[in-house]
Amino acid sequence: MCGIFGYLGPQNNASEMAIDGLKNLEYRGYDSWGVACKNENGDLLLEKHIGKISEADDLRPEILDSINHLAIGHSRWATHGGVTDQNAHPHLSHSGNIALVHNGIVENYVELREELKKDGFEFKSETDTETIVHLIEKYVSEVGFEEGVKKAVKRLEGRYAFLAIHKEEEKMIAARTGSPLIVGVGPLDNEYFLGSDVPAFYKHTKRVMYLDDEQMVIIDNSGIRFFNTKTDEAIEKRVVELTLDIESAEKGKYAHFMLKEIMEQKDTLSRAINQEPELIEGMAQAIEDARGTFLIGCGTAGKVALTGSYLFSRIAKKHVNFTFGSEFASYQDFLTDKTLLLSISQSGETADTLEAIEVAQKKGVKIASIVNVESSTMARISDLVIPIKAGPEKAVASTKATTSQMAILTLLAYACAGKLNEGQQLLAATAGKINDMLNPRYEDHIKALADKIVDVESMYIIGKGLNYPMALEAAIKLQEVSYIHAEGFAGGELKHGPIALITEGVPCIAIVANDETRSDILSNAMEIKARGGYIIGVSPENSEIFDYWIKVPDAGNASPIVNIIPIQILAYHLAIGRENNPDMPRNLAKSVTVK
Ligand code: AGP
Ligand code: GLU
Repeated sequence: MCGIFGYLGPQNNASEMAIDGLKNLEYRGYDSWGVACKNENGDLLLEKHIGKISEADDLRPEILDSINHLAIGHSRWATHGGVTDQNAHPHLSHSGNIALVHNGIVENYVELREELKKDGFEFKSETDTETIVHLIEKYVSEVGFEEGVKKAVKRLEGRYAFLAIHKEEEKMIAARTGSPLIVGVGPLDNEYFLGSDVPAFYKHTKRVMYLDDEQMVIIDNSGIRFFNTKTDEAIEKRVVELTLDIESAEKGKYAHFMLKEIMEQKDTLSRAINQEPELIEGMAQAIEDARGTFLIGCGTAGKVALTGSYLFSRIAKKHVNFTFGSEFASYQDFLTDKTLLLSISQSGETADTLEAIEVAQKKGVKIASIVNVESSTMARISDLVIPIKAGPEKAVASTKATTSQMAILTLLAYACAGKLNEGQQLLAATAGKINDMLNPRYEDHIKALADKIVDVESMYIIGKGLNYPMALEAAIKLQEVSYIHAEGFAGGELKHGPIALITEGVPCIAIVANDETRSDILSNAMEIKARGGYIIGVSPENSEIFDYWIKVPDAGNASPIVNIIPIQILAYHLAIGRENNPDMPRNLAKSVTVK
């Protein structure tokens, strides 16, 4: 979470560039923001506020009108300390000479803070971050800025990335372990950017250098140097040229990214399935060869991973384990060098998933991943990668990445069954059906439902078999953007407890596929209706049980892909009806880079 920006170079409006870069990183965290820059007199100027940077006024004139070649910026997702101006980043050292922005958590901050307080450092915020900047200052007084940062890094525990500047030096020093940080190599002489993600600087350059875990970078007028933070050894890096479609990261005619990304599913599914067959066959072979495969992911990607375990069971008659990324470590005793970990992620930067990969790698496990962001840490540390090619997904709620990830898993299951062709045909036909489905009339029909239930307190969703994970996914979608209390269940589980929650008029979505689960799930819907529930059927066929029917195409084994789309649209319109910002829901961030 959080966006980090840094600039050092010949341009003299670094602080303005920081604001612009942070706006492009806002999806990563948006409770507060801040910028620090060094002006022509060598003063460090600082401005920070609570709120979204996209809604902020200009920087104060003292900063805006100054000549500044060096600036850092941050948009925060608070972990330690409330959302206040004081806790916003950048944080200054005791003397005010050093400014620092940070992503992640310093796990030993309590111990470090006590030590620093004893040394006379005064803390102005409640953040864990402030310990880093004071610690650096403590060592800078002994060994200078560069060596001071190197010494401080060795004391930090946890997953983090930080970027520091010093009032008396034309220099950026950054380090990472577990949180993303990428260097952008500018087109001008000695011009460098730093960003948590490429959108921070992609208007300026698409040439990047990746910082890996336990590495730091020092950028100054003499160029760029990388070091291992544990051994201080110098590291050679190469420049990578990225090919990015910047246009597709704009909202275009849509009011929100979420709706745009839902509608893009007309095309994204086709892009996902038009992969080199060798890529799919190669990963399917790895699944075949493995003695035990674990599918992991977090949040929506976790629900996709769970769908995967159903797909492999149904299509390839293969048992594939599922666990959420954050729970994976509990299974580490069963891992061997014959195990395969198949990790699902949009961002490729989710800390819980990355940590699961690290646990697996220590046991010699082979890592395969299905990711959207091809420049991500996950893509770079995996042995096998299938990119889903969905294009930038900016809304916090995942939509197009979800369906593309499910499409790849469906292809993999078919490939494991030796029927890749059949899978490709099914998904190509499904992409066509989604294209027909996503028309304005369809959206209006769902909006009418949203208008009807906009004020409800709770909603329930049931599914079975392949569509049970979609009941869970539907709940997460409704929760994150509409803030309605929503829960998904396996239809058969309801009578074992949750049915006690059903009251008169409570909306319950029944996801009813045209497969062997149909009659069971309809019976479950009937049980809810008998207790006063208002039944919304998402199904290719109508039923007298449904109070409101949302028709979906019959897509066979691709039914989870088509069934979730109307619920994405419903969640979007409920968010709008409740005056929530669906792109930046409260308390959330797009990329969850803290544990
Ligand atoms: C999706 O709507 C959520 N915002 C969230 O659950 C997300 O899927 C999860 O944080 C995992 O993200 P990833 O796919 O980038 O790893
Ligand atoms: N732990 C830090 C804080 O709470 C950084 C959070 C972030 O990654 O935005 O301020």
